[in-house]
Amino acid sequence: MKAPPRLQSLIEEGLIDTVVRQLMSGKEAMVFVVRSGERTLCAKIYKEATNRSFRQAVDYTENRKVKNSRSARAIAKGSKFGRQEQETAWQSAEVDALYRLADAGVRVPQPYNFCDGVLLMELVTDANGDAAPRLNDVAFTREQALAHHATLVAEVVRMLCAGVVHGDLSEFNILLAHQPSSDGAAGVDVPVVIDLPQAVDAAGNNHAHRMLLRDVANLRDFFGQFAPALLTTHYGPEIWNLYQAGLLSNDTVLTGHYERSKAAVDVGGLMREIDDARAEDAARRLRMLSH
Ligand SMILES: Nc1ncnc2c1ncn2[C@@H]1O[C@H](COP(=O)(O)OP(=O)(O)OP(=O)(O)O)[C@@H](O)[C@H]1O
Ligand SMILES: [Mg+2]
Repeated sequence: MKAPPRLQSLIEEGLIDTVVRQLMSGKEAMVFVVRSGERTLCAKIYKEATNRSFRQAVDYTENRKVKNSRSARAIAKGSKFGRQEQETAWQSAEVDALYRLADAGVRVPQPYNFCDGVLLMELVTDANGDAAPRLNDVAFTREQALAHHATLVAEVVRMLCAGVVHGDLSEFNILLAHQPSSDGAAGVDVPVVIDLPQAVDAAGNNHAHRMLLRDVANLRDFFGQFAPALLTTHYGPEIWNLYQAGLLSNDTVLTGHYERSKAAVDVGGLMREIDDARAEDAARRLRMLSH
């Protein structure tokens, strides 16, 4: 196909050779399949901030600490320079998160380049080498649902241990990739997490807790359609609690059960204890009086 204008500069710079086809035009980006030498890649072109949803803009401004103080001031003032800086920071957030997560062993597309607002990355593919489907486009057996849910909960833990909360994890932002086996057997489907511009720093962000709970609840609700037993699990709060206590690692065995600490919720029990103490005190005073 004819290359869209935003990909023209990448062709001129020799980063890509041809544009094969458009995959999607989503809320934040247009996604294309492109060729670069022998490789077929994925090019994600970010849309302008004005075309993105308000929620994302708010989350973004509240959440992100801009390191450079000139940029921070400009963003706060909403000047033209500020908007440009914010735009660049937003777009590079996805690249940063992809590198960080790939390093941590999370299954994400391998990023190759980020140039003029275009992210070049590995094309996640199905068994035919075509762009992989989203989880939302696939039906699962109960066993498959349980297995993929477990894999993805482990991926969330891995991300959190690397200091990242995805923030928009759902069946629309996870692809089902085909992984050929090395010994000629049939190969397996593995979930690959995509779409990370809104990812936040788990430690330094006020919304990280809420976002993590929502991400994990989305996994539960989606796979719960195929494996209803998942619907009563509580992996989100369990994961966050362990993380906060400094007890979470990639090998942590999770139960899916979560009981809030008794002291925090058992108000009735606490009141009984106070009453007991009062009664005991009153009894002591009475004894003292009677002596
Ligand atoms: N690396 C990739 N390999 C294969 N397909 C991809 C890849 N990245 C994105 N896609 C496809 O493009 C779609 C949009 O990508 P992405 O979710 O990153 O952008 P978006 O603008 O947030 O879109 P949406 O609004 O649909 O969430 C994905 O749902 C997926 O089908
Ligand atoms: Mg998306």
